[in-house]
Amino acid sequence: MKKLYFITSNRGKFIEAKQKIEPLGIKLFQKNLGYPEIQVDTLEEVVQYGIQYLEKIFPHSFIIEDAGLFINKLNGFPGVYSSYVYHTIGCQGILKLLDKTGMGRRTAVFRSVYGYKEPGKKSMLFKGEIYGKISISEKGKNGFGYDPIFIPDKATKTFAQMTLDEKNTWSHRGKALEKLVGFLSKKID
Ligand code: IMP
Repeated sequence: MKKLYFITSNRGKFIEAKQKIEPLGIKLFQKNLGYPEIQVDTLEEVVQYGIQYLEKIFPHSFIIEDAGLFINKLNGFPGVYSSYVYHTIGCQGILKLLDKTGMGRRTAVFRSVYGYKEPGKKSMLFKGEIYGKISISEKGKNGFGYDPIFIPDKATKTFAQMTLDEKNTWSHRGKALEKLVGFLSKKID
């Protein structure tokens, strides 16, 4: 059985990936190794830089993932700063920034990028995104982060009002993971 490491401190992300990757006959391990998240405009650059940093200190095949919420009215903010912004102003702070903004102008997109690196091979990126709107108030108790304020297009409730399975069928990370799984399944054929 092949081995693959998911370099992340987030247990939830790891379990989600393990459920999809291990049926391929690949054993997935969680590795809690920090890497710098540089200040750039796109998740792709953050992930690419993370890979370049990690490949020098970790000589095995690994994956990393980075995600963020990009709000159109705020010119893409919080974007690559989503984690920092969540821990400082949180969902309530975002709602305040959109105060008096009607539903038609509350469009946003959640993006996720998985990076895959095998020693001696070119790195690969897999992207997923889901368009939606920022709700007027926080709704729902499930999930984490911005889940209580994000309503996917074609849905009538926030991510936090959905079960995990329901959220994963829509989610940016679910879509990126599906692409990664497609790539890995062809590799081990
Ligand atoms: P990370 O750095 O990839 O873990 O994610 C950056 C931030 O984006 C997290 O701290 C969350 O606040 C937010 N985020 C990423 N994915 C999700 C999601 O699926 N739901 C809600 N918030 C998310």
